[in-house]
Amino acid sequence: MLLTVFVCYNLINGRGNRHAENKRHDFLDFWHNITNHSLYRHHSYNYHYYSHKANIPFQRKKGNIMNEVLKLENVKKYYSASTNITKAVDGISFEVKEGEFVAIMGASGSGKTTLLNCISTIDNVTSGHIYVGDKDITKIKEDDMADFRKENLGFIFQDFNLLDTLSIEENISLSLIINNEDPNKVDERVENIASKLGIKDVLNKFPYEVSGGQKQRCACARALINQPKLILADEPTGALDSKSSRMLLETMEDMNKNLKATILMVTHDSFSASFCKRVLFLKDGKIFNEIIRANKTRKEFFDEIIDVLTLLGGDEGSVK
Ligand SMILES: Nc1ncnc2c1ncn2[C@@H]1O[C@H](COP(=O)(O)OP(=O)(O)OP(=O)(O)O)[C@@H](O)[C@H]1O
Ligand SMILES: [Mg+2]
Repeated sequence: MLLTVFVCYNLINGRGNRHAENKRHDFLDFWHNITNHSLYRHHSYNYHYYSHKANIPFQRKKGNIMNEVLKLENVKKYYSASTNITKAVDGISFEVKEGEFVAIMGASGSGKTTLLNCISTIDNVTSGHIYVGDKDITKIKEDDMADFRKENLGFIFQDFNLLDTLSIEENISLSLIINNEDPNKVDERVENIASKLGIKDVLNKFPYEVSGGQKQRCACARALINQPKLILADEPTGALDSKSSRMLLETMEDMNKNLKATILMVTHDSFSASFCKRVLFLKDGKIFNEIIRANKTRKEFFDEIIDVLTLLGGDEGSVK
């Protein structure tokens, strides 16, 4: 069986030929549907695969296959006090492509939150450029920031920030209602996302009436409802026990795989990072290393993360 699959795959695997490319994807779709596995071996091919699934037009630019959702160019954020300068972020450049799930790790004080705050437009950069889609967010005027955030970014906060006086449904739909979206469309979207995340039955309840896991999934649904280009999460499992952490991470993994959400997550926790497809390590405001999960199991990736943390100068416990 495997041999037959391999032969078929190679027969239709043409290079530089769009028709052959489409046929190759049809085959991979078919294979994925019957086995729930991708044949791709290299991580970048996974982007290609997911882009095809999401009907995102191909972009072939210097070997990049997927659209860039986020691009940082030599970003610096310095804090100056009277006598000294803290280089919290010191010349960071990287990209996140559509469909990625990326973790940022590093020791306490390495610049993770500062970097995330710059990306989420909560903080200004000292120099450099940050593009979300094709928009340079370092150039957005103060008055337009809130709209930009609402339209392009989703947030998952450490304590989830659900409003206790609103139902789960209202918590999820709040940003759409503020944006004056058509109420029928709002209902449809909330139902759709709630059923995908398994919280349809609790939509009419209030946060204090649902379980911790259901609250987490409500927070995820709220981050997703605007179909943001990018979801940002700062230590989302920081306040959770291990069972709740796993549930949240599985939900985020599901959002990434099945709902095509692009996620950038700051975490000090190797277990959380091992759910991602790629991990960037910060040290003293710079990128120290980057590792890619590709076809590794989560356990193998977890071990690799621990190895890098050890290289970074301490065991996992010291990297907070
Ligand atoms: N508002 C500020 N003013 C001055 N220095 C700051 C400010 N915010 C952060 N810093 C400094 O910038 C550096 C990076 O801080 P940041 O909060 O980004 O670290 P972090 O990696 O998120 O750490 P942790 O894991 O402890 O949350 C630290 O040295 C911190 O003291
Ligand atoms: Mg922090």
